[in-house]
Amino acid sequence: MSFRVPEGKNAPINRRRLIGGLGAGCLGLMTGPAIICRAAAQARRWTADPFSLGVAAGAPRPDGFVLWTRLAPDPLSANPATPGGMTGGDVPVAYEIAGDEAMRDIVRRGVAEAEAAYAWSVHADVSGLQPGRPYWYRFLCGDAASRVGRVMTAPAAGAPVERIRFGFVSCANYEHGYFAAYRHLADENPDLVLFLGDYLYEYVEENRPTVRRHSDGIEAATLPTYRNRYAQYRLDADLQRLHAQATALVTWDDHEVANDYADRWSQFNDDPDLFLRRRAAAYQAFYEHMPVRPILSRPDGPVMRIYDRFTFGDLLEISMIDGRQYRSRPACYAPPDRLRGHLESDAGCAERRDEGRSMLGLAQESWLGLGLAHSKAKWNVIAQDVLMAQLRQKMPSGDFGFWTDDWDGFPANRRRLLQRIVQTRVSNPVVIGGDIHAFFANDLRVDFDDPKSPVVATELVGTSISSAGPPYDLVAAVLPDNPHVRFFESRKRGYVSVDVDAEQMTARLRALSDVADPKASVSTLKTFVVENGRPGVADA
Ligand SMILES: [Fe+2]
Repeated sequence: MSFRVPEGKNAPINRRRLIGGLGAGCLGLMTGPAIICRAAAQARRWTADPFSLGVAAGAPRPDGFVLWTRLAPDPLSANPATPGGMTGGDVPVAYEIAGDEAMRDIVRRGVAEAEAAYAWSVHADVSGLQPGRPYWYRFLCGDAASRVGRVMTAPAAGAPVERIRFGFVSCANYEHGYFAAYRHLADENPDLVLFLGDYLYEYVEENRPTVRRHSDGIEAATLPTYRNRYAQYRLDADLQRLHAQATALVTWDDHEVANDYADRWSQFNDDPDLFLRRRAAAYQAFYEHMPVRPILSRPDGPVMRIYDRFTFGDLLEISMIDGRQYRSRPACYAPPDRLRGHLESDAGCAERRDEGRSMLGLAQESWLGLGLAHSKAKWNVIAQDVLMAQLRQKMPSGDFGFWTDDWDGFPANRRRLLQRIVQTRVSNPVVIGGDIHAFFANDLRVDFDDPKSPVVATELVGTSISSAGPPYDLVAAVLPDNPHVRFFESRKRGYVSVDVDAEQMTARLRALSDVADPKASVSTLKTFVVENGRPGVADA
């Protein structure tokens, strides 16, 4: 059996459509959920499209998934009391799930609440469906209907799966360019899209002019401003299309909250309690806009669990990791009057190597280790936010320096994880990440300073969707001191498209022609292969 489905386009988009037919459908479904009829009976008449932010699906399991939308007839409402232009209480929203893209073969009708407390977002956690197949869905509310989206259930645990295609993406600064990369990934018809963080940017670019503008012109730091940032991004046609096309797995990086934060510590040394209030607002807005499971991820103040594991038959297991919420305080945390940048010399910052430091937090470390130990999948992807391989750079002192916001700030945690990979003998471990706005393909060793240390895993890092990359020459200059880096390119924007089968994982690094051109084309910059049973990067 294959997880792949025949190539096909979505059904025509019905942005607004009278649903007079739904009442008749209810009559014909006497044994079905009568509550549908009550929802339809509300007959709310909209003066603007309440589904302006599109639809999304995620958290795939063998018998179901989460369907998402958010009612927002005025998506960028400037009034904090009326997010998305909505007022009042919860609103029942009907959904339909079909076995065909024309939505003729309806296999499920249900109702979920658009919750007023969560900006009228809907998280319909659906179960009882068939494993390993596509479904199509849409939402209905009053006289409006959403576009049609496609979603996959995961193949049953242990079931044979021939092939899976997933894309991974990160770092989409709206101001830095267009989201043509999202459109091209949607065109590749992937089963899954993995969002690895910096889905949006909270700040406003100081370097003008930019390609586009954050509409409110202010840094997001409160619940209404984070909400409007998500709304602006979700109004983007290319991002909407990708969500409608592919089932999403999501984690975050820093810019969903604030630059380079770690747990309760902000880059600017705000009071930790104050910062946690900001984090709570940002996490809630993330929840309100992502197809995550309410039972797992509904936020509790500044606490929100998003790390989770997804299994696709016998072929693939993906651990989605949270690299921000549980971090130890940044090594050699800078006092407020010191220039930040987190480049610390090895000799000057002994704290960096402290064994007690963790990027994942001990609970998540242990959860990940147990998952690796128990996995029966042929390929095991650890999907997280930042570069894992060491990237040391010579300082003027002759000492090596390390950037402390990625895994180089947590070398003890990194070594524990890579040792765990060795101990568990987990099959074909592959780490994927983003954050650094550059493509990397790396061999991961338990001891990066020892070239004889065996390669135990493979790392692939995707460039940014649109965010500006680091200076190529500066990074290229440090590569001779980092021989485990097999490929680097920071001058291109794009994504990574991955095909997995029993014999190999093939990763195509996809690069845009021009991020400032909404009609940009895409091409394959480089293809890498990871062979079954051979950790490390190989050319295709
Ligand atoms: Fe980024």
